[in-house]
Parts: sequence; C-alpha cells; structure tokens
Amino acid sequence: MPDTDLDQLQRDLLAAIEASAGVDALEAVRVHALGKQGAVTALLKSLGAMTPERRLVDGPPIQALREAAAAAVAARKAALEAAALDARLASERVDMTLPVDTGPVGSVHPVSQVMDELAEIFADLGFAVATGPEIEDDWHNFTALNIPETHPARAMHDTFYVVPSPLRGRGKSREAAKGEGQYEVPSSPGQPLSPTLSPEGEREQKMLLRTHTSPVQIRAMLAAGGSQPIRLIAPGRTYRSDSDATHTPMFHQVEGLVIDRGITLGHLKWTLETFLKAFFEREDIVLRLRPSYFPFTEPSAEVDVGYTLEKGKRVIGGSGDGWLEVLGSGMVHRKVLEAGGYDPAEWQGFAFGCGIDRLAMLKYGIDDLRAFFDGDARWLRHYGFAALDVPTLSGGVSS
Ligand code: PHE
Repeated sequence: MPDTDLDQLQRDLLAAIEASAGVDALEAVRVHALGKQGAVTALLKSLGAMTPERRLVDGPPIQALREAAAAAVAARKAALEAAALDARLASERVDMTLPVDTGPVGSVHPVSQVMDELAEIFADLGFAVATGPEIEDDWHNFTALNIPETHPARAMHDTFYVVPSPLRGRGKSREAAKGEGQYEVPSSPGQPLSPTLSPEGEREQKMLLRTHTSPVQIRAMLAAGGSQPIRLIAPGRTYRSDSDATHTPMFHQVEGLVIDRGITLGHLKWTLETFLKAFFEREDIVLRLRPSYFPFTEPSAEVDVGYTLEKGKRVIGGSGDGWLEVLGSGMVHRKVLEAGGYDPAEWQGFAFGCGIDRLAMLKYGIDDLRAFFDGDARWLRHYGFAALDVPTLSGGVSS
C-alpha cells in the first residue's frame, strides 16, 4: 500500500477517535480499526503474505499506524472517563452542611428543665444546691421544724409513713401498723432506714416520706455547725397522700434558705422578686406578700404573683386581673434556728418553699399536673426540651 494511503487512513482514524463523543462511540471506532475485522488488523495480516524484503519496507509504517491508533484510543478513553467523573462529581456533590439524620432523640422533662433553670438563677445570687433524703425521719421533717407530736399542723400534711421491717427488730409488726392506717414503702436492700439520729438522741425514729423539702434546712444548718452563713436551694421530690388534677402523691418542691447576721424581710422580698422576674423572664412581675402561718417561720407570708388575662389565658406579669399563689415563705423561727444549732440572738434567716411542678405549669402553660408523671412519650415530645438547651441567664433560662 502506498504511503499516501496509509497517511490518509491514519488521519481519518485519528479524526474519528478524536470526534467520538462517548466511550461507546470510541469502542466502535476502535473495533473498526483494530478489531479482528479492522482495517489496521487487515494491513498487519497482509504482512504475512509478503516477501521478507517487501515486509522490511511496508512493515514499519503499518506497525507505526497501529501504535498511533492504539495510543490515540487510550488517550481519548482517559479523557472521556475524566470528563464523566467530573460530571458525576458535579451532580452528586455532598452537602456537608446538611443536618445528619440521628434517629429518635429524647427530651428533657419540664420538671428537670425547671430545676436546671432554678439552679442557674440562684447560682447567680450565690446560692448552692443542697439535697437531703426522701425517706426522712420524723424529727427532721416535723419536730425540728417546730411541729411537735401534738401540733395541729401535722394534720396539714397527709404523711406516708414507712414501716420498718419487723425482721430488723424495729417498731411494730406490719399488721399492727397497717391497722393504724400507716403505709408501707419497701426500702431498697442495704439502705439504712434511719440514716441519722437527732441530736436529742432519739433512738426509735418514725420514718416517713418527706412531706416537704424543709427538713433540708435542718440538715444544712447542722452541717454548717451553727457558725457559718448559709445560702442554698434544695430542689427535690416530696410526698403527700393526695391526688386530683392539681395534686399528685409525689411532687417536687424547691426550698430556699438564707442564714446570716442582720437578715430581714426586705432581703426575702428582694430575693423572691429577683428570682421570679428571672424565672418568668418578665420585668413587670408584681408580688403580694400575704400574712400566713407556718410553724417554722415567724412572721410567715404566702407569696402571690399578679397575672394578666391574654386571650382568656392567665399570663404571669402585671397585676391587673388577679393573683396566683406561688410559694410559702417567712423569717426562720427562732426555735428552728436553735434546732439547727444557731444562736437566734446572733443569726437570722429567711426561708421559702415552692412547688416546682406548679412553676412549670404556670411558665409553660401546662394544664393537668397528673400528665407530668404518666410517662407518656407523646406528652414529653410536646412539652419536653432539647437535651442541649442548657438554661443560662444570658441566653434566657427557657431557651
Ligand atoms: N414547707 C412549706 C410547705 O411545704 C413551704 C415553706 C417553706 C414555707 C419554707 C415557709 C418556709 O408548704
């Protein structure tokens, strides 16, 4: 074959390879030239029939053509594949900023959220968080708080008594105790029923589920040894034999206690005002201190906050439309100071106790208290809080 024909064939082939728009088209061109029946293959086969002299002349240009065609096919294939990859990368871009699907996420119970809010607000006022046992003895829950055995105020609290097991050699038999209308609460093994004895050295303590958080006042004063100022809140579970739309047998309270020299009712009022403004996140909170009676404070006051009706709903703030009772408070009774080991001639204090569940209902517009403790996941999904929404004063405690 004359060289001019070979040159023409090479130009045509390379042009066809360059022009092929996809890998399929390129493969067709390759088969057409280099396949079993291909034009270049036919030329290579023709070398076999030639004389050796002729083959020396015609062989090299035909081999060169084959190599040029094969190289061009490989180059074109690489280019087409790179273009295909670029196109895919462009169309399948991963957006790293999209939120990850994490599956079901739990939420924080409104009571826990409010406890965190209270701790945050009072920490800012220099209050520590204290705790005490839920199975409490009669002395801490009543006697030390100036509610002696015969005091009528004992009847204000429908108490769950814990009957010590007769196997432990304490108290009356279960049957006798039940006959007296007392309740039996199983204690967990290994947990002593009478963790502390009163300083009066009473040996046989009646045990009960604490009816309020006030016994933590006594425990804190005794722990401070009667010689140091105290500023604490004590949130936790409390128990009374009571059940309707606004009462559950288990509920939550937060106790507040301040002991120092020169403490007055003014400190109590300022503290409560500051707390309630921060909690309800409104400046127009109006308080009303209503004279009341608690055996462990003197004087005592029940505290109401003003509400305003907005579209038929009571919204805390202002004082236009009515008052809601939110807590009990007063100046710590001298007998309570003495029971806690403080000299009332030198030390004064104020205390307050507040229903946490009620605070949560008022702030978050929840109607039925019983739903708090039903354990219904749908309720929690509706009223619960995102786990990472940690309350802060700067960010707003309910954020
Ligand atoms: N312990 C009281 C109650 O449960 C509340 C209270 C606490 C009142 C502290 C005054 C001072 O009702």
